[in-house]
Amino acid sequence: APPTRWKVLVVDPIHDEALERLRRTCDVVVHLRPSADEILTLSRDADVIVLRSGVQLPAELFAGAQRLKLVARAGAGTDNIDLTAARHAGVVVFNVPGESAGAVAELTIGLLLALARKISLADRQARTNVWNKSALVGSELAGKTMGIVGHGNIGARVAHLAQGFSMRVLTCVEREDEPRRRALAARNIELVGLRAMLREADVVCLAVPLTPRTRGLISEPELAMMKYGAYLVNVSRGEIVDERALHEALKRGTLAGAALDVRTGEGSPTQLSTLDNVVLTPHIGAMSSDAQRRIGHIVVESIHSAMTGAPVANR
Ligand code: MLT
Repeated sequence: APPTRWKVLVVDPIHDEALERLRRTCDVVVHLRPSADEILTLSRDADVIVLRSGVQLPAELFAGAQRLKLVARAGAGTDNIDLTAARHAGVVVFNVPGESAGAVAELTIGLLLALARKISLADRQARTNVWNKSALVGSELAGKTMGIVGHGNIGARVAHLAQGFSMRVLTCVEREDEPRRRALAARNIELVGLRAMLREADVVCLAVPLTPRTRGLISEPELAMMKYGAYLVNVSRGEIVDERALHEALKRGTLAGAALDVRTGEGSPTQLSTLDNVVLTPHIGAMSSDAQRRIGHIVVESIHSAMTGAPVANR
């Protein structure tokens, strides 16, 4: 058994089983979604912070949290954590990048089907007894081209699922090289540049982390390059897309539709919600009980390892 009880501050929801397990060995304080001021105060005497994407950990926090040893990111993205400040403060940050990728990829296909077959709109109409089938003519995925920006845990799974729908798959990655091109070609995935992808794809799916290089990656010029009548699906981070430019493209009808699981300023209203060719979900990509259970247990096991002095790695 771990030798000392640590104080673990949990600021985003994690799976119940994991929380229960954690409570047996640690002093757990659950304070969901604290304000920017609250998190600074709460973290002052914490040994561990467990969070997902809902809370920001700024440099200031690491300077003031004297006992903090470990930040457990119960999910993939670390864009909400000042990693440089954490490193300088000697705080270990780990994430669990792979376990929710299947859930995100499945949601991606769900969102795409919702767009292509107008499922959300049809549902809204059917509930109000509007029976206008000719307004709900959609398109099929088979034979269309899926362009995936990013080929990490999520991108690779989206590619596989898209091929199951008989789609041609293009991908673009930050570092192209010949071995990678050949490995992808062996799986029938074509490695192309972003511009070529935007011009050819019927669907563009964003599956990249938010970094200074990907922020605003899809803005007005990129949207203008997209094929007339194409769809955009974003399951990564809202900040990768310029939402105002997207709104314009959707209003003009140059894009047929967009499905967004993530947005800039999540939880606040968006002008996109007035458009029928938009499907919105509230950042639920990783929200399968399967993924959350796996991630929760890995987080607990990693905290326990750290308590015994063992090294902790991303899993
Ligand atoms: C992630 O980065 O894993 C997802 O955005 C889900 C989350 O943890 O909030």
